[in-house]
Order: sequence, then C-alpha cells, then structure tokens
Amino acid sequence: MWDRLLTDCHVATMVASPGNPLGLFPNAAIGIADGKIVRVGKRTELAGFRAKEVTPCGGAWVTPGLVDCHTHLVFGGTRANEHAMRRAGATYEEIAKAGGGIASTVAATKAASADELRDTARRRLHALMQGGVTSIEIKSGYGLDTASEIRLLNAARAIGRDEPVRVVTTLLAAHALPPEAKEGPARDVYVKMIAEEMIPAVAKAGLATSVDAFCESIAFTPAEVERVFTAARANGLPVRLHAEQLSNQKGAELAARYKALSADHLEHLDAAGAKAMAAAGTVAVLLPGAFYALNEKKKPPVDLLRDAGVAVAIASDCNPGTSPVLNPQLIMNMACTLFGLTPEEAIAGMTINAARALGLAHEVGTIEAGKAADLCVWRVSELSELGYWIGMPGPERRIFCGQDS
Ligand code: NIG
Ligand code: FE
Repeated sequence: MWDRLLTDCHVATMVASPGNPLGLFPNAAIGIADGKIVRVGKRTELAGFRAKEVTPCGGAWVTPGLVDCHTHLVFGGTRANEHAMRRAGATYEEIAKAGGGIASTVAATKAASADELRDTARRRLHALMQGGVTSIEIKSGYGLDTASEIRLLNAARAIGRDEPVRVVTTLLAAHALPPEAKEGPARDVYVKMIAEEMIPAVAKAGLATSVDAFCESIAFTPAEVERVFTAARANGLPVRLHAEQLSNQKGAELAARYKALSADHLEHLDAAGAKAMAAAGTVAVLLPGAFYALNEKKKPPVDLLRDAGVAVAIASDCNPGTSPVLNPQLIMNMACTLFGLTPEEAIAGMTINAARALGLAHEVGTIEAGKAADLCVWRVSELSELGYWIGMPGPERRIFCGQDS
C-alpha cells in the first residue's frame, strides 16, 4: 500500500518530450511511498491503488517543488542604506570601492550572534518556502576567513536539518577581498588561504558540495579564480562561478574549462562563452532580482543561450546587496518580463534546470518514479499563470518528501 495518492490533478512532470516541453500530464494522479514518487499515471488508471492517505486536488496543477539554486541567505544586517545611495546615483561598484557592499555585510555578519544569524536566515527561508521552494542552495561568502566561512556553512546546514527543505551549501570564500587584503601581497595571501586552507578544511568536514567565486573587476581576476578552481578540483569539489555580471571577464569560458555546474548572472556573456558552456554542460543561472535591483540595462543574451543549447535556470540570488528578494513567483515573472523567457522556460528554470545546476537532478526537479516527492500544488487554471502574476502567493500545498509542510 502507498503512503499517499494525489488525485484529480494536472501534472507538469518537467520530463520534456517533443512538443511537450513541460511533460504535461492532464487528469493525472501521483502515488507516493517512503517520501518518494512511485508512480505518475492517469487518474483513472491509479484509482484502483490503495494508499493510507488520498488527497483530491480538485483539478489543481502540480509541479515539482521549486529549486532556488543561487542564494546568499545567511548574513547579518541589511543594506537598505545602499538602496538609498543607489537611488541617489551611486553605482554598485562605487559603493563597493568605498568600503560598502559585500564588505559591510561581512562586518555586520561577524557582529551577529549565532542565534541572530540563524533566526534571520530562517525567516527568509520560510518566505521562500511559502513560495514553494523545497530545495535551496546557500552560499557562504560573508565571512572571508576560514573560521567565519565555516561558521556560515554550519549555520546553513543547521537550518537545513531543522526545516522541511533540502539545503545544499557552497563555499564562496572568493566573494570579495577582505578590506585589509585588497592589494599587493596580502591579496595573494588571501587567495592562497582559500586554496590551501579553506577549501581543504571545508572539503574534509563535508560542509559544502561546491565552490563558487566572483570573477569581476571589483572582485577576483580570472587568474585568481583559476587558483581557487584548481584547489576545488584537487579536493574533489565541483565549481560554479559568478560570471559576466558587470563586465565580460571571459568567466563563462573559464568556468566551462573546469566543467562548472553553473555560471551565474551572465549579463555580459558573449557567443564564445555560451558555446563553451554548452560543450561543458554548464547550466546558465539567470538572476533577474539582481538585474532589477541594480537597475542594469544589459540583459543576459537569452537567444545566444537558446541557440547554443545551454540549459537555463533562474534563482532568487537572495542577498542583502543586490537582490533582497523573497518571492520565487516574482523571480519567475521578472525572468519573463525583464529577460524574455517564456513562462515554460521560467518554470523549467526553477525546477529541472535548477536541479541540474545543483547536481541534484537525479533526486529532484521532475515528477517521475524514484524522485523525491517534493511537490507544489497550484490553484491556477493554467500553468503559465506562474510567470504571469507579479508576486503571486505561493502554492496551495507544498509537499516535501511526501508530507505537507
Ligand atoms: O550575486 N555578485 C556578487 N554577489 C552577490 C552580491 C552580494 C552582495 O552584494 O552582498 C550577487 O549579486
Ligand atoms: Fe550571487
């Protein structure tokens, strides 16, 4: 006997087939046992199966639980002051160079107690979960020394243990140079510390499943990123990269050379970068919240990505500086309205392609037998409403490992 049977629903399995990119399965039912999907079939076909709990969905749409594959969720303070500064004309780069930006969040994060860090991150996590998120990536990057980076990864892991959500952690020690190490030999010492101390320590403790870096004129050079990536590879950790956000540093090609799981942002990506990503199977993670908050004008070249055949994911990039966003539906809408994704692409971007970006596609991201029973039940008449409403409320039901939560 199954644990649960969802009946009377229309399902977007997200298993694409020719002419059916979302794998739509109308008038369906979903069987669940031991937290996993055991069968997706016609409602009439599955009617004969017995389950401990039967949940009629009243003709609602069911998608995989949403996957938010790029967040900086754990941090102290806010940067509401910078929002005001930008409105008065300052750019993100100018604020960063003047000691604000990531550096100011590093200071606020160091000043926050463990309880404060956890409670504020938990509140943000709850908002995203209410929006249907069942898997989330959380980066460090506001510590910038070994102990502080580990503290952030531990906080992220702890939240994941207490909440009905899958948390994947990423070491982003190469997010910014610590204020005392911006130039000269100290800069080199910091990169060396990431490569020789932080990555081995985090890998040994099993505290992160990938390593990220910020390749940009105000952050790390391509050569420095290579040193970080080489160390990640030596320690068995896959990589991802904040690439071509504010300028073209050829970060996407660099990421592809290291078979990165994803290259993220990509506003300034060129054709060679898109081609290299396609060849390496690197997922493009687009972050419309940061584009919107920074009032950027250059959009990521979605056509280049489509033509090259790169899988496109979208994510909240939830962070205090460039994307204080807590609503996945708003991200889907922005991906359509600002970047020109179709609603179908936006839905794939927060399910199967986001799962790919996290290396989790064997577990989540589609509705098929063997995958985790992480599901969202949406009270909409057509699925494209997910990219249409501006900041719509979350799903009617959010199911994590087979249970409502
Ligand atoms: O994804 N681009 C770099 N990192 C973040 C911003 C972090 C911050 O400003 O605190 C991003 O946009
Ligand atoms: Fe980011």
